[in-house]
Amino acid sequence: MTLARLHGQHFRCFASFEFCPDPRLNLISGANGAGKTSLLEAIYVLGRGRSFRTADPCALRREGSRGFALAGRVEQSSRQVLVRIETDGSSTAVRIGDHEASGLAELAELLPVQIMEPGVHKLIEEGPARRRRFLDWGVFHVEPRFLDAWRRYQRALRQRNAGLKQNASDASLAGFEAALCEAGEEIGRMRARYVDRLRPLLAAAAQSLLGTTVDCHYVTGWASGRSLAEVLNEGRAMDRRQQATRAGPQRADLHIQLAGKAARERVSRGEQKLLGASLILAQIDVFSVLAQSPGVLLVDDPAAELDRDRLGRLLRALLARKAQVFLTALPEGVPELPDTARVFHVEQGRVAKML
Ligand SMILES: Nc1ncnc2c1ncn2[C@@H]1O[C@H](COP(=O)(O)OP(=O)(O)OP(=O)(O)O)[C@@H](O)[C@H]1O
Ligand SMILES: [Mg+2]
Repeated sequence: MTLARLHGQHFRCFASFEFCPDPRLNLISGANGAGKTSLLEAIYVLGRGRSFRTADPCALRREGSRGFALAGRVEQSSRQVLVRIETDGSSTAVRIGDHEASGLAELAELLPVQIMEPGVHKLIEEGPARRRRFLDWGVFHVEPRFLDAWRRYQRALRQRNAGLKQNASDASLAGFEAALCEAGEEIGRMRARYVDRLRPLLAAAAQSLLGTTVDCHYVTGWASGRSLAEVLNEGRAMDRRQQATRAGPQRADLHIQLAGKAARERVSRGEQKLLGASLILAQIDVFSVLAQSPGVLLVDDPAAELDRDRLGRLLRALLARKAQVFLTALPEGVPELPDTARVFHVEQGRVAKML
């Protein structure tokens, strides 16, 4: 699967743009403020239905415009699919081929997009929520039943939490808990299976970027060795006091160790970045084995905060994968980039292919 063409209107600083990327390697170059990150953002929005920079979709429309539109041509083996997202400021329409998309999951399935941006270190530095989102996006792509289990779990969790707030009887809470435990255990099993696959690939990716041993394991979000039903049953009185469900996959984490010690506590910012990048590379490697395609990888400003040696290692690691890669850089370019890369220059709201 590759993105073969992208067209945008009234998106960020662009009145309109269009470009036809290379199926493997693309460099988007331009001065500060030219619109490089905005182009990556447009690709990300097309694959995920939301931005990596803002939760406010109105920030994406060009100042003075009511809305924006993005249209892409996705090539999947011999098939071409047109995808279009259009918003007028109050409602958003997503079309895939000749039909209205059923939801964002359908977009994600069509165009799996990941991003390594200068904030990639937050995957390591921040709390577990970001790592859960990272894992869940990966699990969604390789476990067809994950989305259904996730929806069932969220519904049961909302119902139980509402019951806790309304001081519902134990019998009525138990009614929600049956569905909660079934879906929660299923999510836990799928995530753990995914982490088993990710683990050796993360170790290999981190070894090539950092030259250190890295390990990871999944922490379920409830006492290990116990069933979720037992834990909920025993914790119900405390859950009532706190008016919230304290155990379950919404509390899970991916623990990462570097040379045997918790990564959060011992690595520098540059190392956190390479560790975050290793996680994303490992995810691409899982997809290469289990999914139809490793997908699209956006790499914003890789030169920031990395020394020349580490940047070289990262570029070699990117080029060794079969993902479709989009890199951004200042006009000075990126050292050691192969001349097979298709280069686009962004200037004054225009995107031009360089010969
Ligand atoms: N909604 C918007 N409407 C119009 N212009 C916008 C909007 N949002 C951002 N901009 C402007 O778009 C320009 C391009 O921003 P972008 O972050 O894409 O630049 P960049 O090329 O990645 O720069 P840098 O090299 O500094 O990272 C900036 O000048 C920014 O102020
Ligand atoms: Mg930028």
